[in-house]
Amino acid sequence: MRIADFALERYFARWEFAVEHVLGASDVEGWSMAELLELADGEARAMWNGLRLGYTESTGHPKLRAEIARLYDSVEADDVLVFAGAEEAIFCLFNSSVEAGDHVIVTWPGYQSLYEVARAAGAHVSLHALREEDGWSLDVDRLIRSFRPETRLVVVNAPHNPTGMLPSEADWRRLAAACAEARIRLIADEVYRFLEHDGAATLPAGADLDDRAVSIGVMSKSFALAGLRIGWLATRDRAVLDRCARQKDYTTICSSAPSEVLALIGLRARERVLARSRAIVGANLAVLDDFFARRADALTWVRPEGGSIGFPRLVQGGSAGSSAERFAAALVEKTGVLVLPSSTFGFGDSHFRIGLGRTDLPEAIEAVDGFLGA
Ligand SMILES: Cc1ncc(COP(=O)(O)O)c(C=O)c1O
Repeated sequence: MRIADFALERYFARWEFAVEHVLGASDVEGWSMAELLELADGEARAMWNGLRLGYTESTGHPKLRAEIARLYDSVEADDVLVFAGAEEAIFCLFNSSVEAGDHVIVTWPGYQSLYEVARAAGAHVSLHALREEDGWSLDVDRLIRSFRPETRLVVVNAPHNPTGMLPSEADWRRLAAACAEARIRLIADEVYRFLEHDGAATLPAGADLDDRAVSIGVMSKSFALAGLRIGWLATRDRAVLDRCARQKDYTTICSSAPSEVLALIGLRARERVLARSRAIVGANLAVLDDFFARRADALTWVRPEGGSIGFPRLVQGGSAGSSAERFAAALVEKTGVLVLPSSTFGFGDSHFRIGLGRTDLPEAIEAVDGFLGA
């Protein structure tokens, strides 16, 4: 299979571990092993202590799948397939769900694998552009108008990377109902689910809205455990999981045994885990509210409604002018602060992504402030 480079991941590969502050990251500051193990209940602690490092069940540990199923209303353990991160899930799902001539609609700007894998599999992809002038909102009517007879999948990531867009529940339900009626499968990338801001409600999961819809989840973002590389697909359509399992035989076969137990511990303690993530993101949002209010000369943003990311517009970035790419390059060289220019999303040169999940955000923002000058 030939597939285009993943521009964002290539950018990270160059910079992520060479800089002082990763302000462009989408994950939440990871838990330490010691802190996570403190959260283990008796059963999980015994599983951890007695763990044997052999191969694991290719579908995922039954207790982990049962715990993941509890995140949904209508999903059982057998409706869950565990992967190495959401990324492997996305690869297997799209590779096994579309073929040449199929049509797929994907929200954009967006996480590249959500459209690139389908493209590489021969599908025709329409990008559903979110518009800054509409507050990056999901235009459900426009999206439904773009359905075609050969449309197989509608892919929506919400809360959305990179804009932090969160549809209203009414719009979300309306879209799911329209997809169901047209026999189009809704793919809901919900890796930022449970990180809604300002008391906004968590949307119903895609997999709960329609028995053919697929929800994508992961431990990396809201659950702040990216290093586990544990993600999943949840759907009541088991034929989809069966096809994906056959793909997974060619990728990782099964998950990492220690990671499965650690993910179980994190999910069983999810109230504490999510409270910590929300506290980090909330504190960072307060810093950013102040920063964007003070630096309206240089930057504007549509405040994100959910997730651990935001997508500001560069108005005037000092010597970099209004080019986000030049701004990001000069910023990282001069201050060691990494942001992701919108070119890594193939989305013009006016925006950049920042992450809200890292605890060093206040220092990183101070450095950006200094860089922008008086
Ligand atoms: C929308 C979206 N989906 C999927 C992923 C992949 O998650 P992971 O890297 O944990 O596999 C990401 C990661 O940034 C993402 O932003």
